Amino acid sequence: MTTYNIALLAGDGTGKEVTDEAVKILKAIEQKYGYEFNFERALIGGCAYDEFKTPLPQTTLDIAKKSDAVLLGAVGDWKYDNLPPEVRPERALLGIRKELNLFANLRPAVVYPELTSLSPLKEEVVSGTDIMIIRELTGDVYFGTPKGIEEKNGEKFGFNNMCYFESEIKRIAHIAFQTAMQRNKKLCSVDKANVLDVSRLWRETVICVSKDYPEVELTHMYVDNAAMQIIRNPKQFDVILTGNIFGDILSDEASMLAGSLGMLPSASLSDKIPSMYEPIHGSAPDLKGQNVVNPIATILSAAMMLKYSFKMNDEYNDIENAVRKTLKSGYRTKDIAQEGAKITGTSQMGDLIKENILK
Ligand code: IPM
Ligand code: MG
Repeated sequence: MTTYNIALLAGDGTGKEVTDEAVKILKAIEQKYGYEFNFERALIGGCAYDEFKTPLPQTTLDIAKKSDAVLLGAVGDWKYDNLPPEVRPERALLGIRKELNLFANLRPAVVYPELTSLSPLKEEVVSGTDIMIIRELTGDVYFGTPKGIEEKNGEKFGFNNMCYFESEIKRIAHIAFQTAMQRNKKLCSVDKANVLDVSRLWRETVICVSKDYPEVELTHMYVDNAAMQIIRNPKQFDVILTGNIFGDILSDEASMLAGSLGMLPSASLSDKIPSMYEPIHGSAPDLKGQNVVNPIATILSAAMMLKYSFKMNDEYNDIENAVRKTLKSGYRTKDIAQEGAKITGTSQMGDLIKENILK
């Protein structure tokens, strides 16, 4: 029997509820295929701050680093809003991304046919959308130095540095081209090369890497235009490649194509083991303990873990199909409920998907 060690970082708010359902689904996969998944829990975010006075304790990092993959729920709660920036829950996310070298963030925006009416956009605009956003995750203005707030010319002066090494652009570009090769072979690189020097280097480097992938059709788009095109005609995109800050913004925008943040998974990949998987949504502390949040984003994140970390394609498809089947049968958590839907809670949704896997 093959054993996989999974670090389980549930985090804050409803993080525990959604990761519990993902574990339920992984146990169904264990049962069906005869693997063994070992889960080791560790604290991250506000709950870690409560216990250790830091949102990313060394013990958590150690557990993550020796795992085969990390499954994360969500971090953050309003009760930590007044903490100094360096110990706020969100810092744990940036910290673990950097520590594990999770430079490639894959954020699929897929519109399920059953859910097209959920999008605030017209059904005919969103139906059939299937975009993979590839966001660089460990560089850019998020991590650039110098940074800070200082006194200058007799007033306060705040600054960050938007910067990329060529090697950082190259490695994420390779991931994007490889992803495009496995999809529809279309890659759109998003930058602001008409204004920013760092974007000029980005574009030059992506063009250079494209020589290795002659089959992929490469286009470039300025980020302001991309923001417009994503809602004007999302079906024009297959794979979008972009830097950290543009990817942060565009991936939230693209999530609205699918109608609910509760549907969207993500993978943050490293070139080493482990990689990390988490839903795109936050911790929704106001809904904690009510058994109402949608576990599908986390369940699909666990599925991405099987595909990308453990190379289990059939198992990935099993989970995806089970999610589709469950939606087709009319079951919905509140966030994705339309008229006439069979409303289910968080754990019932997990049970239904599990049943469909084992059927
Ligand atoms: C995300 C989030 C994070 C980011 C925050 C919480 C630090 O918005 O994962 O998109 O900006 O990367
Ligand atoms: Mg974001």
